[in-house]
Amino acid sequence: MSMSHVRSARLGSLTLARSSISARLASGCGSPGPGLAKHADPYRAIDRQADPAQFVDILESRGRAPSQVRLRRRFLRFAGLRPGWEVLEVGSGTGVLCRDLARMVGARGHVIGVDPSRVFVAAARRLAREDGLGRRIDFRVGDGARLRLPADRFDCALAVTVLLHVHDPAAIVAELVRVTRPGGVVGLQDQDLGTLVLDHPDRALTRRIVDGVARRNYVEPLSGRTLMRRLVEQGLTRVRLRTDVYQDTSYEPFTRGLIERRARHAVEFGIVAARAAARWVAEVERSVAEGRFFLTLNFYGAVGVKPAPRGGSSP
Ligand SMILES: C[S@@+](CC[C@H](N)C(=O)[O-])C[C@H]1O[C@@H](n2cnc3c(N)ncnc32)[C@H](O)[C@@H]1O
Repeated sequence: MSMSHVRSARLGSLTLARSSISARLASGCGSPGPGLAKHADPYRAIDRQADPAQFVDILESRGRAPSQVRLRRRFLRFAGLRPGWEVLEVGSGTGVLCRDLARMVGARGHVIGVDPSRVFVAAARRLAREDGLGRRIDFRVGDGARLRLPADRFDCALAVTVLLHVHDPAAIVAELVRVTRPGGVVGLQDQDLGTLVLDHPDRALTRRIVDGVARRNYVEPLSGRTLMRRLVEQGLTRVRLRTDVYQDTSYEPFTRGLIERRARHAVEFGIVAARAAARWVAEVERSVAEGRFFLTLNFYGAVGVKPAPRGGSSP
């Protein structure tokens, strides 16, 4: 996922959209905005953002969106999780996945979530406690590329909407494989921003904004399509792929945040002028008002099995 300042640029009506986004974008043109401190992609360093707490709300609101609930639960079923398993989630954020995982593995199972953000880890602990899952999940601060966990420990290790945001995705996948037991499952799920389809009358402007911002924000905006290959390259066996489409015709909050951020970043990065960005958003809002809004985005999930060491037997 690529989400940042959903609340900071809410646009209620067409008129408001034109005036407020133009003013905001014009004033931020050429320099990082308030949430863009240091890194364009805030998920690379949440705790260094101006208002890290807002990202707790963003992840939780995404986690509650019915289409996102369906997407991630389909992926978790695809990974074949079983009751009693010990599962690791790297890049666990506020613990949306970990709470699902804890319910799936049940009271005999256990979940560990690792994330570099202290703000996220604190929120994740609180939210798990509030759901009565505090004892089943252990949240730790850490870097997924250097896990302080022993080899061959977990029945399953996952990274969901994480690789898109990191500098060295291969290092994280290698760590997931290292800490998984032979016969255990490694799973990755990510969106692929090259598959973002928006029905907009100005297709050229749409591509400039959508592709231009993705290239500036992410090391690997096409992360989704790389996942299967990453598992094969790590020597996993029985690698399988599951494709899911995020489809929105009602302009859900997740989509609204995505569109508004694209517009704002396009101006901040000097890709388009503020007036063009405002016109682009206004047309999106017109399509919503007229009941013809259309956006889809592919999410890819890949899972594979860690083979037994040479000379060993498969469990
Ligand atoms: C978009 S969020 C996804 C959170 C969660 N997996 C979910 O789907 O709700 C991306 C997460 O990756 C984390 N992250 C960024 N760099 C990381 C790294 N080097 N190792 C582990 N996690 C990282 C961020 O802090 C953030 O929590």
